[in-house]
Amino acid sequence: KPIVSPPKKNKNFLKRMKETDKNVILFYGSQTGTAEDYASRLAKEGQQRFGLNTMTVDIEDCDMTLLDKFPNDYLAFFLMATYGEGEPTDDAVDFWELINSESPEFSEGMSIEEKPLSSLRYVVFALGNKTYEHFNAVGRMVDNKLTEFGATRIGERGEGDDDGSLEEDFLGWKENMWKAVCEVMQVDQSKVETGGHIATYKITELETYDSNKVYYGEYSEHALMINGTRPTYDAKNPYPSPIVDSRDLFSPSLTDRNCVHMELDITGSGIYYETGDHVAVWPVNAEQNVERLLKILGLWEKRDTVVTVESTDPSASKKYPFPVPTTYATIFRHYLDIHALTSRQFIATLANYAPTEAGKSKLTTLGQDKEAYRIEVSDAYLTLSEVLESISPNGKPLDSIPLDLIIETLPKLQPRYYSISSSSKSTPTKIHITATVLTFNPTSAPHKTVYGLATNYLLQVHRKMRNIHHPEILPNYLYSGPRNKLYDEKNNTIKLPIHVRRNNFKLPKNLKTPVIMIGPGTGVAPFRGFVIERTLYKTQGEEVGDTILFFGCRRRDEDFLYESEFTKLFETLGESGKLITAFSREMANKVYVQHKLMENDSHIWNLIYNHGGYFYVCGDAKNMARDVNNALIQIAQSLGGMDENSATNYVKDLRSKGRYQEDVWS
Ligand code: 2AM
Repeated sequence: KPIVSPPKKNKNFLKRMKETDKNVILFYGSQTGTAEDYASRLAKEGQQRFGLNTMTVDIEDCDMTLLDKFPNDYLAFFLMATYGEGEPTDDAVDFWELINSESPEFSEGMSIEEKPLSSLRYVVFALGNKTYEHFNAVGRMVDNKLTEFGATRIGERGEGDDDGSLEEDFLGWKENMWKAVCEVMQVDQSKVETGGHIATYKITELETYDSNKVYYGEYSEHALMINGTRPTYDAKNPYPSPIVDSRDLFSPSLTDRNCVHMELDITGSGIYYETGDHVAVWPVNAEQNVERLLKILGLWEKRDTVVTVESTDPSASKKYPFPVPTTYATIFRHYLDIHALTSRQFIATLANYAPTEAGKSKLTTLGQDKEAYRIEVSDAYLTLSEVLESISPNGKPLDSIPLDLIIETLPKLQPRYYSISSSSKSTPTKIHITATVLTFNPTSAPHKTVYGLATNYLLQVHRKMRNIHHPEILPNYLYSGPRNKLYDEKNNTIKLPIHVRRNNFKLPKNLKTPVIMIGPGTGVAPFRGFVIERTLYKTQGEEVGDTILFFGCRRRDEDFLYESEFTKLFETLGESGKLITAFSREMANKVYVQHKLMENDSHIWNLIYNHGGYFYVCGDAKNMARDVNNALIQIAQSLGGMDENSATNYVKDLRSKGRYQEDVWS
């Protein structure tokens, strides 16, 4: 039997709690793993500090209609992330539908008036981002609904803001939460043993193993099937996609910034996409940093040792943190986010394992003093290797640090999502990516360069494939060791692991409906797909409605994405097409897309108000999307004769009808 086969999912969480003697369950709804990570941390803390019998579980793996049978001496935690436009994460969709239905069907068939969840006690922490309009909508709604159904919340609802400091919000909230929990769970603090590290994972070095079953960066057993049926590629098993073309969209002579255009071929993969969808790219960590971390942890000599990593808790819903068996090097190259900022809590924990008193006191201070942490760690983007090196005498390996602590605490390496910039109608088997490369020097550590992982990876792939010798030396993301399926050094071919995620950002069904698109910077990506598609129909003799694109960048010569291509497309569209540009750094005053929108207000208002036009915004959520929203409200006031209130409601109404769509990120 392969060691990797996932445990059979039993959705009856109550049965599992009873069988394994648990009285606290932590449900999480997580998209990028943060809610999951917080759930695990709380579970561990509850167990270690307060002697609670905790288990964490992905809400997707639970039959939530059983909540009405939840024993009244148990406790449930809900760690719920909000995603995009106030939406639940993919794994929480079923639960969301259950609680939001008019008459939610719990197992005993009680109506809402009968308070079906009156035996449930719960704690809730909402994760979201204030930049988005529906901040923490999911966590808040879960809280309100559970209360409405008769359940009792313990402590205050926690709210984390990823735009501020999610981590600090979480740390600040949990102390009072634990007090409230200890009270209702009747924890006798004096009897609780404190301190001591309880291992979450057991790491075993294997002497014998089937080398065909060792994972070297694959994400699921499908990828290891040698003569089996054709694997299905999805979010759990990304497709190693060949790259057919790439280029830099910025003018290298005028700027040292880069924007990579890359074309992937998905022919025969079974993956498909629709215009407006997202593509996920699975990055690989830089070799230098993999080496650095292995060295400081004293694992460098053993980097190719085959190991298995397994939960010490037999009832854990996730038996393995990543596919195993694997090697130490692979863990840090493919599965854990070694470039992540080291959290304050992690630093406080690491203090217990510092090799010297000086190191211990340094980490203790950073772990306790928020301000010191912000300046020395957060603003300087210190990664785990850097923190560990700073407390190592003469850079000697720190073999006192339990490896399972590292595995448990470092976030999993997550895919990065990009708005697809091609049209599935025009190129159904090609996915185009448009990504501005993120590289910067932190203000508090100006001599250090921080490289955005996935975009620099794309840049390096582009340079390598095209044999571009550039003076700038990038971190090396192209590992060419044994069993590596991504980079073939001999033939200079590179494959990029990807999957497609559906997105509701879609053109109107009716071709005649006017569309207005606002996409400064790489926000133009999905609109390239939109414009290509509308033009394609036009050349096929269809009648296509007004197609108006507002694009903004710094300077025409420097970072105007797809200038010549757009010029041609809009020529083909003729009268009904219009490309309106805003160059922000060509003149003394900033000119932004929303200024251009105001200049064209009567045309835009006519299309929206009288012709059922659709309005689209893509790009920066924080400032641009909000400013554009306000500009449209202003237009509704000045040209629609509405007061501020009704103009705001008018724009809200456009949103709820799907005629104002956003694809924004922060
Ligand atoms: P700036 O960097 O010169 O301020 C793509 O990033 C373009 O969006 C750039 O021209 C950038 O201008 C511009 N931009 C920055 N902030 C914006 C905002 N709040 N609204 C619209 N465009 C903005």
